[in-house]
Amino acid sequence: MSKKVTKAIFPVAGMGTRFLPATKSVPKEIMTLVDRPLVQYAIDEARAAGIKEFIFVTSRGKGALEDYFDHAPQLEAELRRKGKDKLLEILQSTDMDSGEVAYMRQHRALGLGHAVWCARRLIHDEPFAVILPDDVIAAEKPCLQQMVEAYEETGGNMVAAMEVPPEKASAYGVLDVREDMGSMVSVKGMVEKPAAGTAPSNLAVIGRYILSSNIFNNLNSLEEGAGGEIQLTDAIAKEIDGEGVYGYRFRGQRYDCGSKAGFLQATVAFGLEREELRDDLEGFLQEIMASRKAAE
Ligand code: G1P
Repeated sequence: MSKKVTKAIFPVAGMGTRFLPATKSVPKEIMTLVDRPLVQYAIDEARAAGIKEFIFVTSRGKGALEDYFDHAPQLEAELRRKGKDKLLEILQSTDMDSGEVAYMRQHRALGLGHAVWCARRLIHDEPFAVILPDDVIAAEKPCLQQMVEAYEETGGNMVAAMEVPPEKASAYGVLDVREDMGSMVSVKGMVEKPAAGTAPSNLAVIGRYILSSNIFNNLNSLEEGAGGEIQLTDAIAKEIDGEGVYGYRFRGQRYDCGSKAGFLQATVAFGLEREELRDDLEGFLQEIMASRKAAE
């Protein structure tokens, strides 16, 4: 039986330039889908999977993230005074207890592998999860929980995987499959951002990982990979002949909230999930689509 996964790393040091000018003063992870910041979805998913320690790898200008997880006594007192119990409950559900959350600075933007490596001293020799908050996954059973359950059987290293159209594969880490077992594949190779037409499959890595602490040894050399960055994919690939690597085809809908189109799609989809918004939003979408059609 594998060791329990109780720690997760959230790499949130990216500058979010695709969302400028918004990200000039607001960290991308604080941008909201309906009324919850991107990072809250990641935290909720981690908690559901049994994560007890939340490690954020941040950078300059991410102070709003730390404030977001802090208690807000003044705001709480105000809501209590006004009897707004529901809002108070929502607010308190975002608090992090002391000792539950840690922040680590990535001083230079050297890539995802480097960001993860920055947290090495907080992990020691335990398996750990990595969640990229840009990848928001709507699922009946949260994605990381599905993976933790699968990992309890396999051990090793596990990455979330999803089929993507071949022409999109070069935007991802891509798996070379040794054996396809349905919801799980064993991996014989991994390539970060393969050049067009060279991807070993159309099975792409999505931003959820369960990794062994060996990964830190593999990252110690700080070798540059695709795009001149220190790539997490390369460090995981080194475990193929070690503790093994599995891809897990999760059940759920993934939104690429690192892109504007994905962010808008997630906003609409999550809005439609909300009972109090559904009718208005649905009516609006039908109307706007009909009037666009009529104008064609
Ligand atoms: C990162 C990883 C890549 C993975 C992707 C998933 O890339 O390096 O392997 O497929 O996340 O979203 P990024 O999107 O940060 O360039």
